Amino acid sequence: MSPRPIIAPSLLAADFARLGEEVRAVQAAGADWLHVDVMDGHFVPNITLGPDIVKALKPHATVPMDVHLMIAPVDPYLEAFVEAGADIVSVHPESGPHLNRTLKRIRQLGARAGVVFNPSTSPSVIEWMMDEVDLILVMSINPGFGGQTFMHSQLAKIEALRRMIDASGRDIVLEVDGGVTPETARLCVDAGATALVAGTAVFRGGPEAYAANIAALRG
Ligand code: DX5
Ligand code: ZN
Repeated sequence: MSPRPIIAPSLLAADFARLGEEVRAVQAAGADWLHVDVMDGHFVPNITLGPDIVKALKPHATVPMDVHLMIAPVDPYLEAFVEAGADIVSVHPESGPHLNRTLKRIRQLGARAGVVFNPSTSPSVIEWMMDEVDLILVMSINPGFGGQTFMHSQLAKIEALRRMIDASGRDIVLEVDGGVTPETARLCVDAGATALVAGTAVFRGGPEAYAANIAALRG
């Protein structure tokens, strides 16, 4: 039997006019982490929020803030996000010239370091860096928008990364992001995922539904 997955609601699907309340509601409903999607309109075709919003939400956060950076270049902004309160900072290998240097810098700043795999990115990117990562995030959609359909082609990648993590002997979180529903959550956990990001599937139905929505994702 698989262990209970970490559930990280994506604030992208929250009501942006009431973000503090949404954070408190989703935590009361059982969220393990808060997933924050940062987009620059350049690396991905959408614009969301920056370090000031992370900083404003931090006093409301009782769980780790899992910050997913979809910005390029990413290096100049690492410090601002960690200072704002990011506990985990995840970067795409395509968002800077030296992934190893970027990961080391995130840890040096005091946060946990994550690498994000786009649907087309191969697991081999991480092969020589298993000691430098605390989290691996597999995108099961093309990043940029919530509400997209889960790409089943990514399940084999989750399995491959599970094998690499097990072989490393390190305690690396394997997270999945995009199109996660109660049905696809089960497939991800069976493939070896230990954390699930969900926007639409958590925030649909409003605050009264959050607890049931999160429980449904746990299976
Ligand atoms: C998309 C983001 C996701 C997104 C997931 O680029 O990284 O975190 O919010 O949304 P759903 O769960 O609706 O697919
Ligand atoms: Zn995300």
